[in-house]
Amino acid sequence: MRFEIFTLFPAMFESVLGESILKRARERGLLTVNLHNIRAYATDKHQTTDEPPYGGGGGMVLKVEPLVRAVESVLQGESVPVILTTPQGERFTQRMAADFAQYPRLAILCGRYEGVDERVRALVVTHEVSIGDYVLSGGELAAMVMLDAIARHIPHVLGNAESAPNDSFSSGLLEGAHYTRPPDFRGLRVPEVLLSGDHGAVARWRRESALRRTWQRRPDLLLSAPLSEAERYFLGELAEMWARSKDSQA
Ligand code: ADE
Repeated sequence: MRFEIFTLFPAMFESVLGESILKRARERGLLTVNLHNIRAYATDKHQTTDEPPYGGGGGMVLKVEPLVRAVESVLQGESVPVILTTPQGERFTQRMAADFAQYPRLAILCGRYEGVDERVRALVVTHEVSIGDYVLSGGELAAMVMLDAIARHIPHVLGNAESAPNDSFSSGLLEGAHYTRPPDFRGLRVPEVLLSGDHGAVARWRRESALRRTWQRRPDLLLSAPLSEAERYFLGELAEMWARSKDSQA
């Protein structure tokens, strides 16, 4: 999969692209990330990329010409989703990451300052995406978050093909608890079932751990998670236990 990233600060991406899973994916040819400096597409002698907005009001706005020229000259008319990172966009989710990973090529425009000239949206942007309800100094960090989350869905990027579907949210639930050696640390023991070698029992325990954690932390996810009858029963029991413990505290 190929990413075209348009930014005023390409160097911000270096460490993220040069480590761990993204580094390996690039080395193996599974992921290509082309960084395009928007400044290189400015035409005036000062290479201006931002200006104060019409009507005043402070802040700086990214100019339309360099951005549109950059995107059009890189994409060459190819039909590619162009994502603008902005706090006004649709909230980024695991579902969206999986959907974007289906495209062979994706462009991300990193917003900056107060925003971008509205005409950029009309001319080149196909999606506006926010990574959460807070304001970053620029879209670069948001682009890196999306790039990482999308890359995890590209086949063979993760060592174990099972990992992405098991990630929190992919199954509709949060991930449950994990343990590794030693079996006892300061008296905190790993649950016996995980040491038992009984794969069926381990899978059941994992699913229950995920259900319990989701019920405790993100009960809203349970409304849309695909659950079996037995899993609904398990959640009912959790709720009853919780209600009884409340009663005994009262
Ligand atoms: N740019 C500034 N804040 C942002 C956010 N929350 N998501 C995406 N892009 C942004």
